[in-house]
Amino acid sequence: MAADFADLDAFVDRTADERLADYLDLLRLPSIGAQKEHDGDVRAAAQFVAERFEQMGFEHVELSETGGHPMVYADWLHAEGAPTVLVYAHYDVQPVDPLELWTRPPFDPVVEGGRVWARGAADDKSHVHAHLWAARAWLETRGKLPVNLKIVMEGEEESGSDHFDSWIVANRDRLKADFALISDTGFYEGNKPAITVGLRGLVYTQIDVVGSKVDLHSGSYGGNVQNPANALATIIARLKNDDGSVAVPHFYDEVRPLTPRDRQEFARMPLDEASFTKEHGLHSVWGDPGFSILERRGARPTLDVNGIWGGYQGEGSKTIIPAHAHAKVSCRLVADMDPHKTFERLRDFVMSIAPQGVDVSVTKINDGMWSLTPIDHPATKAAAACLVDVFGEQPYYLREGGSIPAGATFTRELGLPVVLLGFTQPDDQAHAPNESMRLDNLEGGIRTIVRYWQKLADTPL
Ligand code: BES
Ligand code: MN
Ligand code: MN
Repeated sequence: MAADFADLDAFVDRTADERLADYLDLLRLPSIGAQKEHDGDVRAAAQFVAERFEQMGFEHVELSETGGHPMVYADWLHAEGAPTVLVYAHYDVQPVDPLELWTRPPFDPVVEGGRVWARGAADDKSHVHAHLWAARAWLETRGKLPVNLKIVMEGEEESGSDHFDSWIVANRDRLKADFALISDTGFYEGNKPAITVGLRGLVYTQIDVVGSKVDLHSGSYGGNVQNPANALATIIARLKNDDGSVAVPHFYDEVRPLTPRDRQEFARMPLDEASFTKEHGLHSVWGDPGFSILERRGARPTLDVNGIWGGYQGEGSKTIIPAHAHAKVSCRLVADMDPHKTFERLRDFVMSIAPQGVDVSVTKINDGMWSLTPIDHPATKAAAACLVDVFGEQPYYLREGGSIPAGATFTRELGLPVVLLGFTQPDDQAHAPNESMRLDNLEGGIRTIVRYWQKLADTPL
């Protein structure tokens, strides 16, 4: 790359201690978006981010109210004639249970083995932090940024982005940009640089089965009533076929078939089933027959029970017929599925197979749209060039299995192309106990973003 980054790199080098301390401070805030008792902590994390953008010279900095957790907005718009980038990351984190499996408390970050260990270290405070420090490198070193930035950081990503779409719509006028950069993804197996070009959508539901007001004595009533836990098990057993496919009628109707070209792209990526199984501690790989692991992850829909409960779970025995039983059931969606239609088909099917003698209901908890983003967009190519410059390798282009509903929203509501650039990697244990972030990836991430802003200024979009 022609441009000289020596002064910017020197800033990244000399602030190493201060950057790390600041990152750990952010990780100490238990911003679990899904749990009411943490509402104050979530807000504190939003404030943390907003304050830092303000201190370094961003304008229009605010915690914008949404009805849920606030959106952090900030902009720096003084690069006349240069592109404008809408930058997205999320400052909320997943719940920490089961707490007993953490070797260290999740919100008391520790540096060890070249990693920082804490909930949110990777997903997604790594990227919140990387953007703060990449912008700061430019502003402190050169007094300006080479591009215009509009920062949008969310606090509800991990809990379904309930207020995100309406906030985007309400703020449409001030969110005009050339494209959206989402930093909430990562590298490929073996810590290989990657750009994500596909995300799955999601429909998350709860099934409730109720048979009586209170638990019943299983001797006095057993044989005369339907058991809600048995009924729920019956329903769940019928949602999938023995070969692993989903049994909900019309579930696959809109699924976009893989073209020979798509399959070639998937097949180009190295993935050894044995080491994949071993590295991630899996019993074995199992799924849709006729598809590879990467095809299943990137281009096939799923139906999974996330949790199931009801009745007695304690020590020894308790002879009851539980009054009720419940399950959280979610589907990952791919192009061209419709979350609403999928929910209706699932709900109608569950109701049609509901055993007699109990009340069954299916409620949607949240949903999010799948997205496919352009590989050949100049902003994607510029990101790839910066990855090569910093990490020394051409990136893979990944179709990921996870969901970031914001991606589809930026395109649908704002008409923006999306680039997904992030620096976490598959063994970070996002969402699981003992989440961690590699410090070399984090630092390389900051250097990549620093270069990206320059590269975009030099690239006709
Ligand atoms: N960062 C993830 C999305 C992700 C996961 C991207 C794996 C690439 C690979 C994001 O924070 C996330 O976990 N999203 C949720 C969305 C849901 C709560 C609507 C997900 O995928 O479960
Ligand atoms: Mn995330
Ligand atoms: Mn997540």
